[in-house]
Amino acid sequence: MTADPTLRTLRPDDAEACAALVRSAFSAQDVVTDPPSSALRETGDSLRAWIAAGGGVGIAAGDRLLALLLWAERDGGLYCGRLAVDPAARGRGFARALVAEAEREARRRSLPRLHVRVRLQLAGNLALFASLGFREIARDVHAGYPEPTLAVLEKRLDG
Ligand SMILES: CC(C)(COP(=O)(O)OP(=O)(O)OC[C@H]1O[C@@H](n2cnc3c(N)ncnc32)[C@H](O)[C@@H]1OP(=O)(O)O)[C@@H](O)C(=O)NCCC(=O)NCCS
Repeated sequence: MTADPTLRTLRPDDAEACAALVRSAFSAQDVVTDPPSSALRETGDSLRAWIAAGGGVGIAAGDRLLALLLWAERDGGLYCGRLAVDPAARGRGFARALVAEAEREARRRSLPRLHVRVRLQLAGNLALFASLGFREIARDVHAGYPEPTLAVLEKRLDG
């Protein structure tokens, strides 16, 4: 019998599984981004450091990690990154559930906002965050690129 997917806090010893999931999820984006996502270079060590300093939440079925979101307190809010859902587990509301948990975490910490950075090339991801109540507050550009490559989105929690 397969265990039901359950939300749980990520621990530093989840880091290797998190790195494998992040790399496989970001390898299966709707569009191949230019430049390639730095998520493809995540390792157990880099994510162990992120989880230890910030934290995050995962969705697991038994021992199998299906989805995750990492966060860090930054710029007066909870920055959310590396949102990753196993390609075989998409379209089941996991991303939505993880962002809802990030919102609860920000409220527990009395932070007034969530923020994320999304590639402008990824229209589906922009639509996902818009549907979750985020709005664009700025654009950013990767070094060496002539035009913006990223949208900075936030969700206010104090409105
Ligand atoms: C983007 C991603 C996290 C979405 O995960 P998911 O669990 O399939 O998303 P959900 O099932 O929670 O979908 C939430 C909503 O967003 C919509 N959505 C999700 N991905 C979408 C896409 N690529 N295009 C259009 N809409 C999308 C869903 O239709 C759903 O809308 P609904 O609730 O009105 O039906 C997943 O596709 C992924 O891991 N992608 C690769 C890594 C990545 O790009 N991460 C985000 C970086 S900003």
